[in-house]
Amino acid sequence: MSSEVVRRVRTRIPGLDEILYGGIPERNIVLVSGGPGTGKSILGMQFLYNGLVEGEPGVFVALEEHPAAVRRSFKHFGWDITKYEEEGKFALVDAFTGGIGRYAEREKYVVKNPDDVREMIDVLRQAIKEIDAVRVVIDSVSTLYLTKPAVARSVVMLLKRVIAGLGCTAIFVSQVSAGERGFGGPGVEHAVDGIIRLDLDEYDGKLYRSIIVWKMRATKHSMLRHPLEITDKGLVVHWDKYIKFTRSGVLVEKLPEDEIRAMKKAVEEAPVVRKRVVVEEEEEE
Ligand SMILES: Nc1ncnc2c1ncn2[C@@H]1O[C@H](COP(=O)(O)OP(=O)(O)OP(=O)(O)O)[C@@H](O)[C@H]1O
Ligand SMILES: [Mg+2]
Repeated sequence: MSSEVVRRVRTRIPGLDEILYGGIPERNIVLVSGGPGTGKSILGMQFLYNGLVEGEPGVFVALEEHPAAVRRSFKHFGWDITKYEEEGKFALVDAFTGGIGRYAEREKYVVKNPDDVREMIDVLRQAIKEIDAVRVVIDSVSTLYLTKPAVARSVVMLLKRVIAGLGCTAIFVSQVSAGERGFGGPGVEHAVDGIIRLDLDEYDGKLYRSIIVWKMRATKHSMLRHPLEITDKGLVVHWDKYIKFTRSGVLVEKLPEDEIRAMKKAVEEAPVVRKRVVVEEEEEE
């Protein structure tokens, strides 16, 4: 299929759609991988919130942090999810507390046993259907198999089948150790449709943020490492520049004009997804 006809979910994260030549191809499951503090959770929240603003409902699955902390993080960037939640366009799946504690009673979608992937998927499926979600974020999938790496691939394949089958496009946050080169294990890396890597590198006593698209099925994408910034409004990708770590220093250079033009054009022309289209109701196994 040529890139012209692939429908996209626009991340609307400044610069990210450009390096993806229009956005994330519809129904792709994208692993956002990186070490601690690289911006993975922020990317996930921003992706969801930007969808809400455009009228695309979304589900956030909280496995890594308490739902109260997740809500606080959204607020920190000025992203008001409450309004959308009240309108039935945003859902937070609490796969963290196990329903224990006074706070958890306020949550609508609670996974009673956070170690039970099947239960998590059932709650997620219900949330997707009830709010008619277009976007899904799982933060993080690593939590689902930290203690059982042997099942990582099957867990990710199952999630992928359910989420893409229901017509959603998703971001799976994947945690790797600082300095680790992989993205979350061989099974997982090949199972997902895309990999976006966020990095934090120290050079001469200073930390540099960068982003690189490692793979993205069904589209052309930038093959360069781009400077990344985290601001009070979330992530900003400097899509028209690339960063090079050389022996003599860190160099940031401008992309060739023709590549800049091609990316801009791709973003302008890519057809955009607004509603989920159910491909196949996955059969129960
Ligand atoms: N308002 C802000 N302005 C600039 N940088 C910020 C701001 N808020 C957070 N950050 C940066 O974002 C980082 C946290 O990003 P995020 O929570 O997305 O990390 P993460 O990749 O999910 O990490 P982890 O794997 O530990 O969960 C902080 O360490 C800080 O450097
Ligand atoms: Mg995080």
